[in-house]
Amino acid sequence: MDYSKASFKDFENIPDQNMVERAMSFNDYLNYLDDKGHLNYRLENSSGCGPELSLNLKGETKAKKYVNFVSNDYLGLTQHPDVKKAAIEAVHHYGTGAGASPAIGGHFSFHQQLEDKIASFFKRKSAMLYTTGYTANSATIQSLLKKEDIAILDMAVHASVYEGCLHSNVKTFLHNNLQQLEEILKRVKDQYRTKLVIIDGVYSQDGDLAPLKEVVSLTHKYDAFVLVDDAHGVGVLGSTGRGLIEVCDLFDQIDIITGTFSKTFAGLGGYVVADPELIRFLKFQSRQHLFSATMPPSTAMTVHSAMDVLEKEPEWMTKLWENINHYKKGLSELGFDIGTTASAIIPVKVGDPALTAEAVRMLFDAGIYANCIIYPAVSRKDARIRMALMATHTIEQLDRALTAFEFVDKKLQLSRN
Ligand SMILES: Cc1ncc(COP(=O)(O)O)c(C=O)c1O
Repeated sequence: MDYSKASFKDFENIPDQNMVERAMSFNDYLNYLDDKGHLNYRLENSSGCGPELSLNLKGETKAKKYVNFVSNDYLGLTQHPDVKKAAIEAVHHYGTGAGASPAIGGHFSFHQQLEDKIASFFKRKSAMLYTTGYTANSATIQSLLKKEDIAILDMAVHASVYEGCLHSNVKTFLHNNLQQLEEILKRVKDQYRTKLVIIDGVYSQDGDLAPLKEVVSLTHKYDAFVLVDDAHGVGVLGSTGRGLIEVCDLFDQIDIITGTFSKTFAGLGGYVVADPELIRFLKFQSRQHLFSATMPPSTAMTVHSAMDVLEKEPEWMTKLWENINHYKKGLSELGFDIGTTASAIIPVKVGDPALTAEAVRMLFDAGIYANCIIYPAVSRKDARIRMALMATHTIEQLDRALTAFEFVDKKLQLSRN
């Protein structure tokens, strides 16, 4: 195999290799990336999740500091004193674990209150928790859609959505392409029992937004349902941080809202918000909810507190947007292609995967930690450097990153504007 053109995907299933042989082949490829300094995954962070972090790197005796662009802790709430205090007090009060799945003893008052709180956050009556945002999508879709049904996906939705659709029929439409969506809706109109259109609010690789109003009206026009995962919109968009659904004022129009507590809400866990009957169905039919333990008290109270901070301290969102605007302006002035981002996710689109990996390595050498996004996360010719901004980044840190980009660009000629 030509490793310079390979991706992780090529090792998912090699027909004539058993599991150990496949693992060996993949290890060879990982070693190749490592030798080139292009394996910038699973780096060991020995500090907290802040705007700057320390990494313990292989072969180094001391941890090194980097400006952090890889955390989705958009408002910086993982380090907020009230949020930390809530987690510590939860341990003192309730101990460390929840001990069981929700159906058989693991449903505590702080879980019930969190379900009520996230439901009312989206101005709805019912919600349920999952242990991750990933399962909020995968498990919910898996329970709702069977072989008689169809999921209609924007092709850029998160991996967890694709996983949820494995036992149902699936059609994808080109990213944000309303015309293709309508064609599919027309074609499948009388063919399937449930038609569920699934989109993200903010897309995780481009940071761009869904045309939510249009998708919702098309979906309902053709008698289908709509699920919106706004994992990256909550805490970033909307006058009170309720995401793209708030921007479009469509709280009562979205059949199913999913999301995560692992980004703005500084903890871990996922949620599904929908009408009471659907939520009750899922609470007793979704296997991952029924047979998997609930989030521990410290996590639940972290999320409660982070939600309260979002409400009481709007200045964090203001600061985040000051940072986003400053950084976008800087990258655009340097001539980089940052696409159509309208959120805290900022891509620098490079195209070629090897060039992207080399740019990420050089940025890293300059103390800037950003993600290298290549196929299969994006299409083969659409590799990019992806960054997530935080309210707690300082302007000095952002300017340091801009200087590093300018330097890397001089060496590699990345800009394509
Ligand atoms: C759009 C989207 N949905 C869901 C998830 C999964 O969330 P979690 O990290 O809580 O499993 C992610 C995580 O990156 C995401 O980007």
